[in-house]
Amino acid sequence: MVKQNLIYRLTLLAIVPVVLSLAVFGSVSYGIFKEKLIQERTEEAKYFTEHFSDDIKNPLYFLELDKLNILVNNLKKNPHVLSVYVMDSNGRVITDGTPENKFYNQTLNDEFSKKCIKCNEMFVEIDNNILHISAPEIITERIGTVRIDFSLKELDIVLANLIAFLAMLGAIILMAAIFIGIYISNSVSKPIINLRDAAGEIARGNLGARMEIKSEDELGELAGAFNTMAEDLQKSIDERKRTEKIRLENERLILANKTKADFLSMMSHELRTPLNGIMGYSQLLKQKMSGDLNEKQEHYVDKVLISGERLLNIIEDILNLTSVEAGNIELFIENISVPDMIDDTISIVKDRAAAHNIVMKKEIDARLDLIEADRLKFKQILFNLLDNAVKFSRGKGGAITITAKKEGDMARFSVSDEGIGIKEEDMGKLFKPFEQVDSGSSRHYGGAGLGLAITKKLVELHGGSITAESRFGEGSTFTFLLPLVQKKVESNNNSIILDKAQVLYHNKLK
Ligand SMILES: Nc1ncnc2c1ncn2[C@@H]1O[C@H](COP(=O)(O)OP(=O)(O)OP(=O)(O)O)[C@@H](O)[C@H]1O
Ligand SMILES: [Mg+2]
Repeated sequence: MVKQNLIYRLTLLAIVPVVLSLAVFGSVSYGIFKEKLIQERTEEAKYFTEHFSDDIKNPLYFLELDKLNILVNNLKKNPHVLSVYVMDSNGRVITDGTPENKFYNQTLNDEFSKKCIKCNEMFVEIDNNILHISAPEIITERIGTVRIDFSLKELDIVLANLIAFLAMLGAIILMAAIFIGIYISNSVSKPIINLRDAAGEIARGNLGARMEIKSEDELGELAGAFNTMAEDLQKSIDERKRTEKIRLENERLILANKTKADFLSMMSHELRTPLNGIMGYSQLLKQKMSGDLNEKQEHYVDKVLISGERLLNIIEDILNLTSVEAGNIELFIENISVPDMIDDTISIVKDRAAAHNIVMKKEIDARLDLIEADRLKFKQILFNLLDNAVKFSRGKGGAITITAKKEGDMARFSVSDEGIGIKEEDMGKLFKPFEQVDSGSSRHYGGAGLGLAITKKLVELHGGSITAESRFGEGSTFTFLLPLVQKKVESNNNSIILDKAQVLYHNKLK
């Protein structure tokens, strides 16, 4: 609809001036041509009349009627001559050339005759396609008048031919104008229609729609600008889709994580209750409340208790990790004395270390005293690293060194051992939950592979970071940095609320 309208209007725009100029040109040239024809015919008639007037002078003067009739009849042979009147000086008809000489001796009453008999020179009048012409006959004095009526009818035929010619010329020019008009309107409207189609495609969601650039004029520029706009639009929509996809994926992951955490937390709770029952009854057996045990039975009960303790540790670790991952944890920030905390933690592992010929050393920066941290979690971090250091130095001995240094507004802690070390390719697995770099040998050392994962989370909760260095067979160093002062996002009784209040204790520290 729009397409037709545009082409139609543009074509009309090209044709209307042509039609108007054709009409003006046609009517003007018709008028000029007609005028010229009449003028020519009049001149011709005048020439005829002059000659005839000369020819009849003498016969008229001597009133030789026969001669006059012959001359008049000769003249009437001319197909354009309608009637001829030769009149005397009083205006009475001497001869009219008809066989019966119908108007003989009569005075003609029509207006032209009345005027012409008084007129002393050639007199011309055109009336109703008839050219009336008269000439006075003078030999010293006026002896009469001659009047000839010429038919102008054949002019109509010439003019009709002229009209036909002009109409044909007009039709050819009009056809050419229509053809050129359609061509021009097509070349102008096509890019506009393409633009409309491309815009429509984009509106329908086909963002790949582009316009073909065919010319280097303004329309070509318009097409180029449209294509650039469409590309920008596509980019921004793609970007938005990508962002939306990432957002949805994030939401999905958060939900999956939460579901996993909830599941693990529920499972751990469910496992803990019967396990506590097993531990309780084993304790009762060990305390011989219900009778004596033989040596073997006592040994088995000890095994049950040790295994139960280990299982309880693992369950607590899982609970701990899932709570941190789900964000269900709150830090109780207080000022902690770094040397005291290190001593405290060493005291937990020192007997075990001594039992394996491991020497505990500490190097504490004198400038480092207080640090803002959650007491239990800070202790848990240190303990997990020391526990590993002792565990993986077992059978090798050597020294374990704890260093603490002040570095600007951070405190750098490291735990080095001279234990079994870690292979280069296993370094990437260290902080992932349930990853034990060499499952075979680690099983031999015990543990579930959760300690470092929990440690990393706890360090990050404090706004710190942790790294590890190791040489296989030579020893390892775990280093973590903590800010000396905690940024208080939201403070409530000197605690930083991270999410729901839920404080978890690492069972090993209780
Ligand atoms: N000081 C260390 N020396 C050598 N290997 C280590 C050391 N610390 C950690 N690892 C390796 O990294 C693994 C992961 O340590 P992580 O503390 O997370 O688990 P785990 O000690 O095996 O078990 P859990 O800590 O849950 O009782 C260990 O199994 C061990 O292979
Ligand atoms: Mg560990």
